[in-house]
Amino acid sequence: MKPATRHLVSIDDLSLAEIRALFEHAQAFASDLRAWSHLCPGLISASLFYEASTRTRLSFESAMLRLGGGVITAAEMKSTSASKGESLADTVRVVGGAYADVLVLRHASEGAARLASRFSPIPVINAGDGAHEHPTQTLCDLYNLWLERGRIEGINVVLAGDLRYSRTIHSFVYALARFGANIVCTPQPGFELPPYVVQRLREEFGVEPVRADASRLGELAESSDAVYLTPQKPHQLSLFTEGSKGLAVERVDALYMTRPQTERFTDGDAPITKYQQLSKRQMNAESLKDAVVMHPLPRRDEIQPDMDEDPRSIYFKQAARGVPIRMAILAFLLGRIDLKVGGKEIDTRFHEMLAGDNPCAHPSCISRTETRHVRPLFRLASRFPVRAYCGYCSQELHAPVVGCSTTRHFHDRDSAAARKIRPDHLVLFHSEAQALQHGFQPAANTANSV
Ligand code: NCD
Repeated sequence: MKPATRHLVSIDDLSLAEIRALFEHAQAFASDLRAWSHLCPGLISASLFYEASTRTRLSFESAMLRLGGGVITAAEMKSTSASKGESLADTVRVVGGAYADVLVLRHASEGAARLASRFSPIPVINAGDGAHEHPTQTLCDLYNLWLERGRIEGINVVLAGDLRYSRTIHSFVYALARFGANIVCTPQPGFELPPYVVQRLREEFGVEPVRADASRLGELAESSDAVYLTPQKPHQLSLFTEGSKGLAVERVDALYMTRPQTERFTDGDAPITKYQQLSKRQMNAESLKDAVVMHPLPRRDEIQPDMDEDPRSIYFKQAARGVPIRMAILAFLLGRIDLKVGGKEIDTRFHEMLAGDNPCAHPSCISRTETRHVRPLFRLASRFPVRAYCGYCSQELHAPVVGCSTTRHFHDRDSAAARKIRPDHLVLFHSEAQALQHGFQPAANTANSV
């Protein structure tokens, strides 16, 4: 039997053991980038980039060429049938049909890669979907930490800048939490981690946000409400001294800066008066003495040029390492290397809704624009009461009423009857009126009606 196609839509799609194994392969590839052209001859990678990119696209294409494969590219989407109104689902079916063996997709809508993976017969790699996730940048970032610090477990990572819209940050925090790294957020005010990300860190990774005393970070954290994301285990808390202002951040292993994602700002966003800026002066803080400075790039003014020659700055090295890690990702998904370790450890079961309307209200979710082919998709956060996240953009769904697609009855989401509905039969409604509109009936006796 042909093994199921593996996709890389979210950083959740890889187990920690697989991530470590990818690092080992990347390191071997990096030792001589020109020595691996026997791995993927005859295979083609398609770049489908609906959004601007320099590093991600070019490093993927370079990686595929170095593996001996070929590359086809649609990066100027105005020149493709997208401008004629072709859906992403159709484009993916065409490109995945005979044109290529792996598809690298970047798109402005959250959940685009998830959608593509449901239509594509070949592996889909998410090269960034809106403000949602960017798992291959995260693999590159983790690979850098592993090379620079020798481990990821227990290290202290400060995340600065726009934590709200930076997709690189979202994939990164999920992975850091799983590796058991300590995360300190010093966001630009108004650009804190989004609530759905914090909630997921809490519920699925046992990570709690607590106030951090960031005084030892000096000027960098002056205007920011620093938050420390801690795995709740007391032995890890003992790494920090607790002062009256919260858990003190003593020594930082890595400082990860991000640019303002202005292309994603909406009218409701607070205007930025002064964006955080990192210069040699800020880096004089004692706690940052040994910290490596990282940035996914492109940068604007948030890292001053006086940092470029500082030995702690690794952002250009970080970008260069994007090639060997992407060689490892491609070779793995194309079945050309065997990682020899166990797969997924996170429950990524998705359920399709067989009736009702799309319950996702998130304006930039792909499910709201690709309406022709797309069925609503959700992931259960809890069964008692029924709570769910959108399977595309991961935002929590507002569904106080739930129905069963077979009995056509509806119930309150926290009723005994609701918990008996099989996940594959769940239909999520935002009100009873909506359930009635879809022909669902209130259950006469909720306890026995499923
Ligand atoms: C990032 C992205 O596209 O999200 N860039 C990248 O892939 N290296 C970060 C950014 O654009 O700020």
